[in-house]
Amino acid sequence: MNVIFLGPPGAGKGTHAQKMCLEYGIPQISTGDILRKAIAEGTAVGKKAKEFMDNGSLVPDSVVIEIAKERLAKDDCQKGYILDGFPRTVAQAEALDKIASIDFVVNIAVSDEVIVKRLGGRRVCPNCQAVYHINFLNGETKCKDCKTEIIQRKDDSEETIKERLKVYSKQTAPLIDYYQKSDKLISVDGAIALDEVTEQVRKVFEAHND
Ligand code: AP5
Repeated sequence: MNVIFLGPPGAGKGTHAQKMCLEYGIPQISTGDILRKAIAEGTAVGKKAKEFMDNGSLVPDSVVIEIAKERLAKDDCQKGYILDGFPRTVAQAEALDKIASIDFVVNIAVSDEVIVKRLGGRRVCPNCQAVYHINFLNGETKCKDCKTEIIQRKDDSEETIKERLKVYSKQTAPLIDYYQKSDKLISVDGAIALDEVTEQVRKVFEAHND
């Protein structure tokens, strides 16, 4: 099963991709995580990407398409995968069409107001990428899986969140139309309670699992 999770920053793409990947035993391919790792390791790609990510813009298509191609060529993708945060422009979607056959696209829809609240409270584990929210942490400061101190992402400041939302609406939202035209798009309401969103997403997967 080859799946794309589409949606604005903070829609819950990472959270739900992680859950479905565990349930279906397929890898979660997050271009954001790959880029953050490259920055932490100080690679050439990381150096190119850092400024774009810090100010909330998209990393150039040429860089991200190359990353996705390399990742999708790995053995663990043979049984399927979930793309989380890729493609993010029409050029990326066209490049993906040349190397992969996508079964369906889950579009997680959430309003800007909800997103600003959510991302301001998001905390992440820099080691295993687990995602948390301060409302559910009860003061805990360490990752429950690997016990690493959790942090706030640099691009989760209020100003950068607003910029990321602008970038999403200009460059990524056109993909809704792109995948609707090929009849692959299924939208779920991402603004309701987390467990209820998971249930909706799970139903979409079950309907496509033959
Ligand atoms: P990336 O890491 O992909 O960030 P993003 O798309 O902005 O998405 P997020 O990770 O912020 O949100 P999410 O939808 O995964 O939400 P999450 O599950 O964490 O990209 C970062 C940067 O890298 C980009 O800005 C760009 O510069 C670059 N980049 C990456 N890919 C690129 C590409 N293809 N092309 C060019 N540049 C690229 O949830 C958010 C929070 O909400 C969490 O705290 C979660 O617990 C909470 N939450 C989720 N759902 C619910 C719910 N229903 N109720 C309550 N809380 C909820």
